[in-house]
Amino acid sequence: MKIQPVIKENALIPRVFNALREEFGISQVNEADVKVALDNDLYDVVAFDDYQPVGMARLVGDGKLAFYIKDVYVLRSYQGKGIGGLLIKRLIDYYDLNHGETSYLGLMSTCGSETFYEHLGFEKRPNQRLGSGMILIEK
Ligand SMILES: CC(C)(COP(=O)(O)OP(=O)(O)OC[C@H]1O[C@@H](n2cnc3c(N)ncnc32)[C@H](O)[C@@H]1OP(=O)(O)O)[C@@H](O)C(=O)NCCC(=O)NCCS
Repeated sequence: MKIQPVIKENALIPRVFNALREEFGISQVNEADVKVALDNDLYDVVAFDDYQPVGMARLVGDGKLAFYIKDVYVLRSYQGKGIGGLLIKRLIDYYDLNHGETSYLGLMSTCGSETFYEHLGFEKRPNQRLGSGMILIEK
């Protein structure tokens, strides 16, 4: 069943960032680094159910031409209720209001989440027009 969470804009803080990642076994990031990252993102959204943070998503980029979605997490017990879609739609609204003439909104999907993003209008790459996404991860 869908629920209507309260969505707060630019309310993400390091403690919540790490708490929402923890459930997925993603490494915790020291709070000083997270603070710098959050201070420098373009926009973020946090979903609350009864004051409890249950999901987040953020947007990074140059604010005009290149925008990337990052750190999309919804707590397992809240998945499938429309929250992830709601969060991404808020990021798309921000993008629509702020992007320039030849801009794009990109993301790197986790394995298995591609369909989630396709439902929201994103296309998978590589395809006939676009090459692969590439990544260099600090080891
Ligand atoms: C991916 C994630 C954010 C989706 O959040 P959610 O709140 O469960 O998504 P929603 O309930 O808004 O689902 C929206 C639609 O996508 C579909 N969907 C959701 N997750 C899906 C998945 N993993 N695979 C295929 N379809 C999916 C839903 O069925 C729904 O379809 P509908 O609109 O036809 O009903 C959530 O599963 C999650 O946090 N996963 C773990 C972290 C992760 O991998 N994040 C992605 C980082 S790129």
